[in-house]
Amino acid sequence: MRAESAIPPGQDGRDLARAVRDGLAGGGPKSLPSRLLYDDLGSTLFEAITRLPEYGLTRADDRLLAAHASEIAAFAHPPLAVAELGSGSGRKARPILAAIARRQPEVAYYPIDLSKAALAQCRVELGGIHGVGVEPILASYGDGLSEAVARTRSGERLLALFLGGTIGNFDRGEAVLFLGDIRSRLRPGDGFLIGTDLMKPVPALLAAYDDALGVTAAFNKNLLVRLNREVDADFDLARFDHEARWNDAERRVEMHLVARSAQRVTLRALDLVVEFREGEMIWTESSYRYEKEELPAMAARSGFDCLEQWADEEWSFAETLLTPR
Ligand SMILES: C[S@@+](CC[C@H](N)C(=O)[O-])C[C@H]1O[C@@H](n2cnc3c(N)ncnc32)[C@H](O)[C@@H]1O
Repeated sequence: MRAESAIPPGQDGRDLARAVRDGLAGGGPKSLPSRLLYDDLGSTLFEAITRLPEYGLTRADDRLLAAHASEIAAFAHPPLAVAELGSGSGRKARPILAAIARRQPEVAYYPIDLSKAALAQCRVELGGIHGVGVEPILASYGDGLSEAVARTRSGERLLALFLGGTIGNFDRGEAVLFLGDIRSRLRPGDGFLIGTDLMKPVPALLAAYDDALGVTAAFNKNLLVRLNREVDADFDLARFDHEARWNDAERRVEMHLVARSAQRVTLRALDLVVEFREGEMIWTESSYRYEKEELPAMAARSGFDCLEQWADEEWSFAETLLTPR
């Protein structure tokens, strides 16, 4: 397992300092948790990634949500509220919110994210849908979901969304723990819609994480910009390369920052000096690929029933609708 807990603490200064010490000064292979990629600029760069020609994942997600929004909205009788874990800009929730708003006069939408910039964007993206009230929750997935459950009104069901391929950022063991944690916070009758990116030819996968324009490289290297700013580090960006690699045994794409030469970096606010050998890497993100049947099977072991699953053929991707057993 990577050094990222399934339920990470809030993304405050202490979280960053602890993650940097654990990941860069522990003596083992260097790594940083992928949640740190999403500061304000990182969230903006991620939005740009979703529009790249190489990144078919978001378009597949959008196609499925647009095609099946009415069925998803009808999984339970109204009234229904919606919580979205790691909402990013919230753009993808639009068809579901619009479909629910056709069935009831008011819908509460709780985007949950560690990025303030992403939550601000949710208000802009979704504030204009008639009948939808946007109530952002700045928190990690689990805490935010419990907060959303606590805010539901009497008789109201909650539909939790976890879209994109974000479950793929957990390793397989963490993903099972995550599903169990979400299950423990939802109530019978609630719903959980989860996206999974499926196996596809490796060149297409690698291109999605190493695009020709270099946006994903900028997204990855922005983590060093963030450390320079937030812990007074002196990373020289020109001395690190972005690299995306396929790990066949684990079925995951890995993002790394690779030191071009041996170097020493000082992180003054942490009173820390980190040495890099030439070619040494900081592992910044994993994106696991799934087979279509895998997610329903994992969810069943975590106490969910699978209500429905839809798959996109153009960019193999699945949307699975679950309910606590
Ligand atoms: C890969 S992006 C996905 C955004 C959007 N759901 C989509 O499908 O395009 C992941 C989002 O989750 C947020 N995030 C990452 N780790 C988180 C955590 N532990 N708790 C809450 N949000 C988190 C990030 O800030 C980012 O906005």
